[in-house]
Amino acid sequence: MARIRILQYPDPRLKTLGKKVDLVDEKVKQIIADMFETHYNTDNCAALAATQLDFQDPLAITVIDFSQHKNEPLCLINPEIIDRQGEQFEAEGCMSVYPDHIHERVKRAERVVVKALNEKGETIEFSAEGYMAKCLQHEIDHLNGLLFLDRLSLLKRELIREKIRKLLKR
Ligand code: NI
Repeated sequence: MARIRILQYPDPRLKTLGKKVDLVDEKVKQIIADMFETHYNTDNCAALAATQLDFQDPLAITVIDFSQHKNEPLCLINPEIIDRQGEQFEAEGCMSVYPDHIHERVKRAERVVVKALNEKGETIEFSAEGYMAKCLQHEIDHLNGLLFLDRLSLLKRELIREKIRKLLKR
């Protein structure tokens, strides 16, 4: 297994779209193992998307585990949101956007229904709410080339850019 470097904003590769997985073969399973290895070796990490990692052709895969003991791994391949309801407005951070410094509230659906493949290549469909729903929306955004910053108002985004400029100078 190998740890993969996490791309950092404003790396333009963070806008890459995750490539759809046709077949969950050994190569894909190795990528998933590397993603979990990276996840579990990164402090305060709730989830990672392949498009925020230093892969040459990132696949549409996300790994999630925000359990206290880091023993509830969830891997989703080609995930998509097929239904959303309600609204939440909670703070988010991102391992690719100065996670120790930048947190901002983002409008998200309170409940989502997600369809994906699991690690065995089986189609799964499930609903989630609250923190998990927020997390799923954040990760699926990554796989579509979007950061949570892209969900903020222009004014908020400009303030955050300014904050990042100052961080970069340090
Ligand atoms: Ni993120």
